[in-house]
Amino acid sequence: MAETVAGPAHEVADTVPEFPMPRASRCPFDPPPGLKELQEQGPLAKVRLWDGSEPWLVTRYAEQRAVLGDPRVSADTDQPGYPTKASAEAGEGKLSFIMMDDPEHARLRRMVTAPFAIRKVEALRPAVQRIVDGLIDDMLAGPGPGPVDLVEAFALPIPSLVICELLGVPYDDHAMFQDNTRTMVRTTATPEERGAATREIAGYLAGQIARRLTDPKDDLLSGIAGRVAAGELTHGQATEMALLLLIAGHETTANMITLGTAALLEHPDQLALLRDTDDPKLVASAVEELLRYLHITHLGRRRAVTEDIEIAGQVIRAGEGVIMVNEIGNRDPEVFEEPDRLDITRDARRHVAFGFGVHQCLGQPLARMELQVVYGTLYRRIPTLRLACALDDVKFKHDAFIYGIHELPVAW
Ligand code: HEM
Repeated sequence: MAETVAGPAHEVADTVPEFPMPRASRCPFDPPPGLKELQEQGPLAKVRLWDGSEPWLVTRYAEQRAVLGDPRVSADTDQPGYPTKASAEAGEGKLSFIMMDDPEHARLRRMVTAPFAIRKVEALRPAVQRIVDGLIDDMLAGPGPGPVDLVEAFALPIPSLVICELLGVPYDDHAMFQDNTRTMVRTTATPEERGAATREIAGYLAGQIARRLTDPKDDLLSGIAGRVAAGELTHGQATEMALLLLIAGHETTANMITLGTAALLEHPDQLALLRDTDDPKLVASAVEELLRYLHITHLGRRRAVTEDIEIAGQVIRAGEGVIMVNEIGNRDPEVFEEPDRLDITRDARRHVAFGFGVHQCLGQPLARMELQVVYGTLYRRIPTLRLACALDDVKFKHDAFIYGIHELPVAW
């Protein structure tokens, strides 16, 4: 049995389970059964990582939010005890403010919050609707009723086009940054492969920023370049920030589109509700429920404890690592009734799919809007959409930092 903490009194056991854990083979939408077991046993458990280190895993919703809201835990990957995801993650610099603590985190984040405000994002909705409709037109105009790979034909282009437009990156260069991102988030990439991918995409963005230093435009990269000109950012910091926004802006939403579609196709009653409605509230509710039920950032929010803290009666020492696995936080029966049931009519807005605390997702209004347009359009426009292969044959991204689907053959 694993070392777990069941409330204030904790049991210490002889073996520590490894993390990450495998999902059950026929349940690609559910968290690994081993994680659910740990959650049942208590709010905290020790796990063993690839490098032999043994951070704490925080399994329950309330404790996850408590830790993520605590200023005594750090997102800085250089802090002693920080639980790294893979050997290749080390040594490639920081992905900007997502790996920093306040006040520097807040200073940098503030520089790029404006375009992600709800009002600004809502102004993009008609353009996103046009993109979604255009891609569906193209799919329908293609030869025959599929099969088509929904990832390439639909799910990747939508967020990529949107984040390119926001940043001001030419979409024609999408193959370069999509391929490199794929390498950067692949858990099996070697340090050399990940380093080369990071350098190529960072070099490209550094060039885009340099151009805007002399020839500013009306886009986010020009705003970032303006901070360099004002001496508020180094060129390197500006590049890391652009890299964070580009990667977070397309890889995440794309995976939610395909994973959400696959999950709905496996839950025809829920798909029918969504297909037959023109109520934007139900569509918005479906987006929240799918974000709760599925979880693409499946390797958890990682932090290092910088001062002793007490969680559920257990003291976690400065220098120890903690991992908040939000995918099981979102399946906590204390918070969500029948958590393993997909129910697009439930109020799932309290989910922690976008994290919690100061690092809570900056792009969430954009992601929500994109997903609302997608889920509110795709199944209405292609009501006979179906998987063009058995679910067992779908290649899920067990090998990536961001969970999702490599290829999703669909037909109609
Ligand atoms: C469904 C889509 C998305 C999901 C599930 C998601 C999830 C998350 C999560 C869980 C975090 C917290 C990380 C942590 O605490 O360590 C985060 C942070 C972040 N996300 Fe997203 N994200 C999504 C889409 C986006 C989009 C479209 C953007 C746009 C650029 C974006 C930009 C960011 C940024 C910049 C941060 C860092 C915030 C900070 O450290 O202050 N995300 N995201």
